[in-house]
Amino acid sequence: MSETKTKTIGILTSGGDCPGLNAAIRGVAKAALSQGTKVIGIQDGFRGLVENRVMALEDKDVSGILTHGGTFLGSSRDKPHKMDMGGTVMDMTDVAVANAQKNLIDCLVCLGGNGTQKNAMRLHEAGLDVLTLPKTIDNDVAGTDITFGFDSSMAIATEAIDRLHTTASSHHRAIVCEIMGHKAGWLALGAGIAGGADVILLPEIPYDLDYMVEHLLARRHHNKRFSIIAVAEGSRPKDRNTGKKNASKKKEEASLIEEPIASRLAREIQQAAGIEVRFTSLGHVQRGGTPTATDRLLCTRMGTKAGELLADGVYNVMVGLRGDVCEAIPLAEVAGRTKLVPMDHRWLKTATLVDTCLGDKLSFQ
Ligand code: F6P
Repeated sequence: MSETKTKTIGILTSGGDCPGLNAAIRGVAKAALSQGTKVIGIQDGFRGLVENRVMALEDKDVSGILTHGGTFLGSSRDKPHKMDMGGTVMDMTDVAVANAQKNLIDCLVCLGGNGTQKNAMRLHEAGLDVLTLPKTIDNDVAGTDITFGFDSSMAIATEAIDRLHTTASSHHRAIVCEIMGHKAGWLALGAGIAGGADVILLPEIPYDLDYMVEHLLARRHHNKRFSIIAVAEGSRPKDRNTGKKNASKKKEEASLIEEPIASRLAREIQQAAGIEVRFTSLGHVQRGGTPTATDRLLCTRMGTKAGELLADGVYNVMVGLRGDVCEAIPLAEVAGRTKLVPMDHRWLKTATLVDTCLGDKLSFQ
């Protein structure tokens, strides 16, 4: 075994959790430990680094956690450059870097989504070497075909749609199911196709209510007396944010932000289509529980790839999956970018070919 170029790593999980984080920590730590690298676990994301809440991790600490949901290190949404320190928001970047140095950390491994990629980049710019892994149920991190956590969450949302199907069918109702995803529609689109939703609404395609209602009424006309509408939490109607905003428009927009999209949509469909509509919001259920086999494999592959890169002294990169290969992607190409569903994505065409309405007429239809 050639000597590792990295004596000590710190590892933290930051941002919203997801199934697979423990599997990824295990992958990184086991690979690093086996190459003689010391591993320091940092609690509760960047806040733990600023507060120097750290612990040495040994093999026994990362054994038996492959299937566990959540993250045993804890997570937070705190950013080093804007951290609430007892009521005052402060730039704690220098403290974070100094604590990493105090713990002799050669490279800080950060597991997280878009916010984490940006925060890791900031620490790199402040003088700390970092390496990141793309974690999020939203699948919206640039530089990788897929993020870990997405497959597990998609499976949960798909099962929920399956369950909604049976009750919607019994009562001849339409049911709106709100799915997470932040500003991207990957989760709603994937689960919507897998669950056979009749309508899928995404932030990337502002929806036309009349077009959608026409689709729902056509189903009724063909004796399909129930419908499932999978709506991504970030979806918006077509006419929002266009033209000059007067006071009443601004007020309407503020109320839209307060009211969850599913309840608003259910009300609008019921009024416009004259059919009985219910809604449900899956919320944090989508982030809980054990990772799927696909996520366990992905986390283990990405985690151990990180271990290999660390041994070679490759820093300031994100481990991304391109095709079927785990690659080192320069962090500068990732941080600050969001991967939305592109309008030519094959899943969109797939959905329309099975007669799923995507909220508006698309050019390839
Ligand atoms: O980024 C993951 C995610 O679950 C998003 O889909 C969602 O918008 C957000 O986090 C919810 O965040 P929180 O757990 O802070 O409520």
